[in-house]
Amino acid sequence: MKTLVKVKSPANIAFIKYWGRRNHKLILPCNSSFSMNLSDCSVTVQIKKIEKDKGSSLFIKEYESDKYIKNTDSAYEKTIKFFQTAQDFLGKKADFDISVKSSITFPRSAGIASSAAYFSALALGFCKLLDVELDKKQLSILARLSGSGSACRSVPDGFVLWHKGNSSESSYAESLADPKFWSLVDVVVIVSDKSKKVASAEGHQAADTSPLFDERVYGVEKRLKLMLKAFENKDLEKFGHLLEAEALSMHSVMMTQRPNLYYWSLETFKLMKSVVKLRESGLPVFFTIDAGANLHLITESRYLSKLKPAIGKYKFIVNRPAFGAKVL
Ligand code: PMV
Repeated sequence: MKTLVKVKSPANIAFIKYWGRRNHKLILPCNSSFSMNLSDCSVTVQIKKIEKDKGSSLFIKEYESDKYIKNTDSAYEKTIKFFQTAQDFLGKKADFDISVKSSITFPRSAGIASSAAYFSALALGFCKLLDVELDKKQLSILARLSGSGSACRSVPDGFVLWHKGNSSESSYAESLADPKFWSLVDVVVIVSDKSKKVASAEGHQAADTSPLFDERVYGVEKRLKLMLKAFENKDLEKFGHLLEAEALSMHSVMMTQRPNLYYWSLETFKLMKSVVKLRESGLPVFFTIDAGANLHLITESRYLSKLKPAIGKYKFIVNRPAFGAKVL
């Protein structure tokens, strides 16, 4: 039986986004979503068993993280809550306390899916410590229940579809293609490495207060079908235009929900316009944006050398399609 486990898990970028839930307790989304795991944005967690000396419920004795995951914020609370959820889901009680250490390769809570990477890693690590083997479908369901629903998409490999489902059992993520299928790159341009003020969890709760929400939910399934077709054909032009329309649809809902969520900064907007200009100059690059000010530039790896100099003063992280959560 393992007493220490180390897991590395990628962040993922959603091409078709998850925004709004049908069931907040079970984290059931209003629509299916589609994403790519990121090679260079990941979280590594180390979970260790410690002999129990407290009451009957599991206790995190040591909680340590690097500069992005601090003991002082809500990550600790969310972590302990997730371990309770996981024990219920697995039907097995831990007879030990634990120590959790984590590190991250990118700015946390800045719209680059740090919680997806963190909770998918925790889900796998905790199962290993409890000596429970889950298949990827079940592991993705467990990761979804962490509260960061998109964590389910960091479990399978490569390009991943999260089926919205109509129950906890049918709402899971599966790999549609392995990382080698298409040499897309996601260049994350760091406009701001500050933590966002409103977490996605809060945003999902209020998504349906936007007058544009119903239209989005209706249109997004159609967009997903078209995007999957473009993906299958590796048609970057079609894929990219759908990608931008989808990001703008989600942000239109965000900006019109109550309270309004404006995640972009002026720099975000300037960069969006430069992407359009780059396209006009012949470079096929497209943007998408999650719940933050940072831009994800999507193109094929053969265009990378032309794209990099155009990014100018900003720091950036180049990601290729990656495998899902794995034990190190
Ligand atoms: O899974 P959450 O609760 O962290 O929400 C993710 C929301 C977006 O990143 C904005 C969209 C997505 O599908 O990843």
